[in-house]
Amino acid sequence: MKEQTFNEWLDTLKSKANIVDVVAGYVPLTSKGGRYWACCPFHHEKTPSFSVDEQRQAYYCFGCHVGGDVIKFVMDIENIDFMSACKLLSQKVGLPMPEFKSKRHGENTHKKKERLYDLMKTAARFYYDCLVSDGGKIARDYLEKRGISKSTAVTFGLGYSPDYNKLPAFLKEKGFNELEMIEAGACAQKEGKVYDVMAGRLIVPIIDGMKRVIAFGGRVLTSEKQMKYRNTNDTLIFNKKCEVFGQDTLKKYKLKNAVNSVIMVEGYMDVISLYQAGIQNVVASMGTALNVKQAEIVKRYSDTVYVCYDGDTAGQAATLRSLDIFYGAGLNVKVVSLPDNLDPDEYVKERGVENFSAQLAKALPLFEYKLRTLAKGYDMKVAEEQGKYVVEAVKILKTLPSPAQIDAYIPIVSKLSGLGNDTVRRQLMQESEFSEEGAPTLLTEKPKRKDGKYYKAMRFVLYALFGGVEDLRFDKDLSLYCEDDEHKKLYDYYRQNSDSELSVDDLISLEKQYPEAAEVIATGRIVNEKVAKTYFFDCVRALENEFVKKQRKSLLKAYTESGSEDEKTQILAQMSNNQKKK
Ligand code: UTP
Ligand code: MN
Repeated sequence: MKEQTFNEWLDTLKSKANIVDVVAGYVPLTSKGGRYWACCPFHHEKTPSFSVDEQRQAYYCFGCHVGGDVIKFVMDIENIDFMSACKLLSQKVGLPMPEFKSKRHGENTHKKKERLYDLMKTAARFYYDCLVSDGGKIARDYLEKRGISKSTAVTFGLGYSPDYNKLPAFLKEKGFNELEMIEAGACAQKEGKVYDVMAGRLIVPIIDGMKRVIAFGGRVLTSEKQMKYRNTNDTLIFNKKCEVFGQDTLKKYKLKNAVNSVIMVEGYMDVISLYQAGIQNVVASMGTALNVKQAEIVKRYSDTVYVCYDGDTAGQAATLRSLDIFYGAGLNVKVVSLPDNLDPDEYVKERGVENFSAQLAKALPLFEYKLRTLAKGYDMKVAEEQGKYVVEAVKILKTLPSPAQIDAYIPIVSKLSGLGNDTVRRQLMQESEFSEEGAPTLLTEKPKRKDGKYYKAMRFVLYALFGGVEDLRFDKDLSLYCEDDEHKKLYDYYRQNSDSELSVDDLISLEKQYPEAAEVIATGRIVNEKVAKTYFFDCVRALENEFVKKQRKSLLKAYTESGSEDEKTQILAQMSNNQKKK
């Protein structure tokens, strides 16, 4: 029998999961005029403008203009990615999800993952039991010393690892073998003996958006020379760079509250303390360096992020890069700087939650923060320094998305430097004339926005090329249009394998290697099959036009800047060529 493809399975899933039933599981629906209506779960309203069309198996909100099919709905309401939504729906309707093997990357990882999730949950329970039992007194004392209540400890599922041996023995008793313990990252092996890597530590489970324990953070209880925190190494189910701590509690919070913003902190204890103090829309990046995937998780919950890193890390390169990553993910970024080098945990304990809220209210918009941070490096009492600051500040201004926004920030640069608005404006004009792209520095690298029109078009094009659109005949080279590195990698993969038939299953198997693959699938599935082919060619055309436009601009610039007649003639020829192509 021919093996079922992912798309075939997905069609079955969608035919079984009636959108009306699925939505009704989250919000009460009333029937009126051939549609179902509810108050929108995605924005706050008193009269229903959220509707479900049973015939078309689609939902749409006339208030906030979100909409899509049943999978998109589950993605949005559960704040999970495409594959997780499929998984959840498959459980809801009782249609098991088969392991989709890629022709090239085939390996049965699905079952293995399930085993590892199971193992980690079992370990978390074990650690919790140890915390509350007699032997856990040392850890309970530590929590008390830090002001963490019993109920907070339960909410976060905190635990304690008593020693090297008890966890592996317990897991063995529960039917897990040593290889699995190592593969889950819970244990390691030394001289043939398997031991608990968290021995003697306070355990903080990292729980994902699907309520699964995927890893642990372990804190030393005594200030010995050991590493302060030890984290589970990356495994089949955990990639530290791509996860945030606190998603589970944030998700629960979102079920009952409007999430207008998410607060991003550095550490486990910051999340736990703020939560206990009543600030529950908070997650941690587990360190200062941020990854695009982490920003995308935040974006699923809110459009605004308050970045509240430790005082001593503010202004450091890793922090600044993190801010740009948030901005690049399409988030409205605000920066909180806590005084006196306190971290959020220390601040809220020493000065109370009202003062913390006041600090949030004082948060600076990203660009103002950058301009102020930059200003700290110059002594504005010295004329030369004033000028140097304005030169650098203008480079930051140029990364703003519109002239109107640039204008709005001119008075700030002027005030910080002590030079007039006109001076700043003149410097800005000079910059635009002479150096389109000034020397890239950390502060001025133009962050890429991932929600742009062309970005999305390229995602769909990739989806189509990977077999997402049927009977597509297309052999034009599009490599020039791939502006994004991740897109380029997927496109290269497509080109290397386009002789054999590629399918969406291949994209799924590439997800671990190239996280962008998941987004490509999600984008692709939203487009109705009937219009998919037309849409594909529209996307290609849009990408082409944009490319030609950019080419023309850069040729024109090269022409005006060129000193040699020969070169100018050559550029003119290129320009007319470019024109013809269009
Ligand atoms: P911090 O050193 O700021 O931790 O590191 P913290 O949360 O304030 O710790 P406490 O209050 O002393 O308990 C921030 C985060 O960076 C990661 C952890 O996720 C930590 O919460 N980290 C830090 C590590 O993974 N390993 C380390 O050795 C240190
Ligand atoms: Mn701390």
